Amino acid sequence: MAKEKFKTVYVCTNCGEVSPRWVGKCPSCGEWNSMVEDIIKEQTGKGLSSAQSSRSVDSAAITAKLLCDVSATELKSRIKTGFGELDRVLGGGIVLGSVILLGGEPGAGKSTLLLQLCGEISRKLRVLYVTGEESARQIKLRALRLKVPEDNIMLAAESDVDAICALVESDKPSFVVIDSIQTMRCADIASSSGSVSQVKECTSRLLAVAKRNEIPMVIVGHVNKDGAIAGPKVMEHIVDTVLYFEGDKMLPFRVLRAVKNRYGSTNEICMFDMTAKGLKMIENPSKLLLEARPLGVSGNCVACTMEGSRPILSEIQALVTKTGFGTPRRASTGYDFSRMNLLLAVLEKRAGYFLGNLDVYINIVGGLRLDETACDLPVCMAVISSLLDKPLPDNIIAIGEVGLGGEVRGVTNMEYRLREAERIGFTEAIIPKHSMRNLDASSFPNMKLKGVQYIKDAIQALG
Ligand SMILES: Nc1ncnc2c1ncn2[C@@H]1O[C@H](COP(=O)(O)OP(=O)(O)O)[C@@H](O)[C@H]1O
Ligand SMILES: [Mg+2]
Ligand SMILES: [Zn+2]
Repeated sequence: MAKEKFKTVYVCTNCGEVSPRWVGKCPSCGEWNSMVEDIIKEQTGKGLSSAQSSRSVDSAAITAKLLCDVSATELKSRIKTGFGELDRVLGGGIVLGSVILLGGEPGAGKSTLLLQLCGEISRKLRVLYVTGEESARQIKLRALRLKVPEDNIMLAAESDVDAICALVESDKPSFVVIDSIQTMRCADIASSSGSVSQVKECTSRLLAVAKRNEIPMVIVGHVNKDGAIAGPKVMEHIVDTVLYFEGDKMLPFRVLRAVKNRYGSTNEICMFDMTAKGLKMIENPSKLLLEARPLGVSGNCVACTMEGSRPILSEIQALVTKTGFGTPRRASTGYDFSRMNLLLAVLEKRAGYFLGNLDVYINIVGGLRLDETACDLPVCMAVISSLLDKPLPDNIIAIGEVGLGGEVRGVTNMEYRLREAERIGFTEAIIPKHSMRNLDASSFPNMKLKGVQYIKDAIQALG
């Protein structure tokens, strides 16, 4: 047998590139400061890594099928999660044999969501929950708090991936949760849990078991803002679907976003409310985000963004005040900072509002991040409303991109956005004049559509 030798290498947490020396910039993906130290087994003797040699055992069993012989029902069979919105994000439920990465910062609510999910699925199917982070007793306590049905959920407190794979193979549960990948390890890999090589190898072994047995699997991956832990970035390429939990821990709302999906469209989101009894699905996010909206206050404007195929209304707040320092302060939360500066420049040059000696703050209520150009017009309206201290009427929504010439330009999905605004009860919409041509105004009986060509025209709505 070949003698085992270990060596230290540097691995990119973003793409998995291996380098013998530390480098500031990854030569493969160009990411800065992404290399972390890792220990790998040096390939000696036969030149086969342990993973390769163990795989060669079942290579004899590989057969190829004609495409026309593959049954299409395999793709159609999906498990419904019991969370309607989550099913929509996944593209209609969990596909058998698919592997889903659920990423998020610690405390985002990943374990909570998955235990609730197990509870729902276990009403019909047997599920296995593997925890490497918490003890079985801690999970039990959480299950009691969340009032999760317990009689069809099996629990394993284990972190050895090969033992878990063997358990899945012999037990054949219908759904598996691995919480979390950073605590899992392959005994035959020298580096410690959470390192890039462990994370990659653990994921691919779990994936192989999931595919072979057609068992869907959800793997939890912690994401750290500073990337101290080997990021689930390296896992993204391996798994079928990537879901990320977004949202400020201080806020009760959590946004779950599909950033990759082999079985559905990406960028779909669903929202949850974090309560003591667990995560509650928010069926009507627009209504909730606008609930506590201050009425008759200057500096507010409602915007409508498309999150995947779903329009969501949210409130943009702006505050323009006299600066106390030499240079004015500009800050934005939930909105792109450079986009804000660009819009302020347009307002100054094209609409004649001088903001050079004023502080400007932009805030998106509810912890949402708006990065669509359709928010340009409402941002401008909110800024001018605050500057003039003139509130916008409460029933008005603004949708449109603002160009450098001060022109208001069309955006996609205008009809969906207007439908959503109408549903929530808005009665007037300021939209690009250009979009009026493609819209049938009579199909919006409860809403007055006002087409504007320049940002100046839109500001007239302030009266
Ligand atoms: N006893 C409790 N009552 C109410 N909320 C709790 C309780 N324990 C934990 N939480 C909430 O659950 C969150 C932790 O969720 P968890 O699923 O463990 O996160 P993750 O697995 O993503 O690290 C905390 O942010 C907290 O808001
Ligand atoms: Mg957890
Ligand atoms: Zn890289």
